[in-house]
Amino acid sequence: MLIKSLRSLFALMVLVFGLGLASTSAMAAAEQSSSQQATAQTSEADLWRAVKAGESGSTTAKGVERGVLINVVGEQGREVRNKYMTPVMAIAVVGVFVAFLLFYFVNGPSRLSKGFSGKMVFRWSKADLIIHWCVAISCLTLIFTGLNIMLGKHVLQPYVGGDIWAALIYGSKTIHDWVGPFFIVAWAVLVIKWLPDQMLKSYDFKWFLTVGGYFNIGPLKGKHPDSGFANAGEKMWFWTLAIFGLFIAISGVMMVLPNLDLPREASMAALLVHGVSATLIIAFTIVHIWMATALSEGGMECMVSGYCDENWAMQHHNLWYDEIKANGTLKYRED
Ligand code: HEM
Repeated sequence: MLIKSLRSLFALMVLVFGLGLASTSAMAAAEQSSSQQATAQTSEADLWRAVKAGESGSTTAKGVERGVLINVVGEQGREVRNKYMTPVMAIAVVGVFVAFLLFYFVNGPSRLSKGFSGKMVFRWSKADLIIHWCVAISCLTLIFTGLNIMLGKHVLQPYVGGDIWAALIYGSKTIHDWVGPFFIVAWAVLVIKWLPDQMLKSYDFKWFLTVGGYFNIGPLKGKHPDSGFANAGEKMWFWTLAIFGLFIAISGVMMVLPNLDLPREASMAALLVHGVSATLIIAFTIVHIWMATALSEGGMECMVSGYCDENWAMQHHNLWYDEIKANGTLKYRED
């Protein structure tokens, strides 16, 4: 009887001990797996943090940046474009336009002080007219389509239907891509052909001091500063177009040719350079068109017929007029 009781007690002890052991090892195993899980989770989080920060690894893929899953430069560039470039461009377009409109209403146009003489002096050849209008028309097309690409989603998209917006933005992008090369060729011809007349001379600085003599009010009223074939304002316009046109051309080619397979940094730099250069050229284009069409009486005729009124030549480009008169190259239109 005693032996039987001792045997049952021993069996019970074995059972309790066994159970205890099993539960301890189960707990240890559970602990281990949860710590493994935590480590795995941390390393996974670290991995994605690194990926999001633009960390590179290695893959078997070919091409540039093959080891980069997420390129942060693209996102940074997008932010700079949306946060800074778009509003600056909008302010530049509206600001310059409104500033000139106000100036025009307060100051009025720059009239010919002696009126029109009726005698027309040769100024631009047929080739010059063709090249000017090729640059002007292609540039204006690029400006309107480019502005739609940059600002359209804020000023047009909310007011037109989805289908119209899709057609507008697709059309703008396609036209922008195809007119670009035409502009580059025309721009290059214009810059090379017109460069000799655009060198800065000492009298050009005096032109700036009197703001070109376009003021009809205040102390600068009636001042007609010296000017050669191109005045200082036109030279500034020419050089802005020459320098930023080059930036626009290079950055445009970089963006429009995917086969160049450029690193993202280069593509984003191209996008930003393109936007900043375009903003400057757009602002200057608005000024140029205001001057040519509204501000300078008799100025528009130059780019329509290639001839200017003799009084216009004497008032706005006196040194050029004196020079062609002196060297015998002055040529009047034969009507
Ligand atoms: C409706 C648009 C435009 C009009 C009415 C216009 C008119 C004119 C006129 C009248 C001249 C001759 C000025 C002179 O003989 O002294 C001129 C010159 C010139 N234009 Fe335009 N233009 C226009 C657009 C453009 C555009 C978009 C560009 C370039 C992107 C441009 C570039 C030039 C340049 C470089 C000159 C020579 C420098 C100067 O005289 O200012 N034009 N334009």
